[in-house]
Amino acid sequence: MSGYFITLEGIDGCGKTTQRRLSAGWLREQGHEVVETFEPGDTVLGREIRALLLGGAHVPAAETELLLFLADRTQHVREVILPALERGAVVLCDRYTDSTRAYQLAGRALDASVLEAMLTIAELGTVPQLTLWFDLPVAAAFERMRSRVAGGEAASRFDAEHQAFHERVRQGFSAIHAAQPQRVQRVDASGDAQSIQQQVRALLGRYLA
Ligand code: TYD
Repeated sequence: MSGYFITLEGIDGCGKTTQRRLSAGWLREQGHEVVETFEPGDTVLGREIRALLLGGAHVPAAETELLLFLADRTQHVREVILPALERGAVVLCDRYTDSTRAYQLAGRALDASVLEAMLTIAELGTVPQLTLWFDLPVAAAFERMRSRVAGGEAASRFDAEHQAFHERVRQGFSAIHAAQPQRVQRVDASGDAQSIQQQVRALLGRYLA
């Protein structure tokens, strides 16, 4: 495989989608083919799974929720991520397996020792070479989410979770970073978009060199 697989992770409201767009533009200027994608929901089947997961009409059991995210992922890897990497593209993926570790295993307190193997199966062998973890205190992320919803953006079922859930999710990301400090690089996401982008470019420059 000749491409480069980069994931962007963090709690809701951490600003990673803005950073994905800025990073993609910068990498394209340097001549890279960049594929921007996200989870859940960036395939035809995935859009249906996303509606089930985030719509809020049905509240799934924690294990059902996990399985739906994994089903979305496998389809995404097969249809979007692997073909792009095989072409030699840089793939910038907004959320991936670390989100499942943080939200489902840490956030919902599922048994990681049993379930980690399922996360590996769902990836079809496609592990990110670099993960950018946009770290922000939960209170600051809540503030950003509130202004987005006030600006008309629809709130998802996860946005409605209480603060303690998002604290566990942040702790989950922190534990992944501690366990895999080479793959998972922490970005301080508390500044403005331009200062965060400077940190991101330094990391991308180092890893893609
Ligand atoms: P989305 O609207 O795409 O939010 P964001 O822009 O923050 O990524 O909603 C995705 C939600 O799904 C988000 O709250 C995180 C959650 N999620 C999980 O719980 N597990 C997962 O494996 C993934 C990929 C996402």
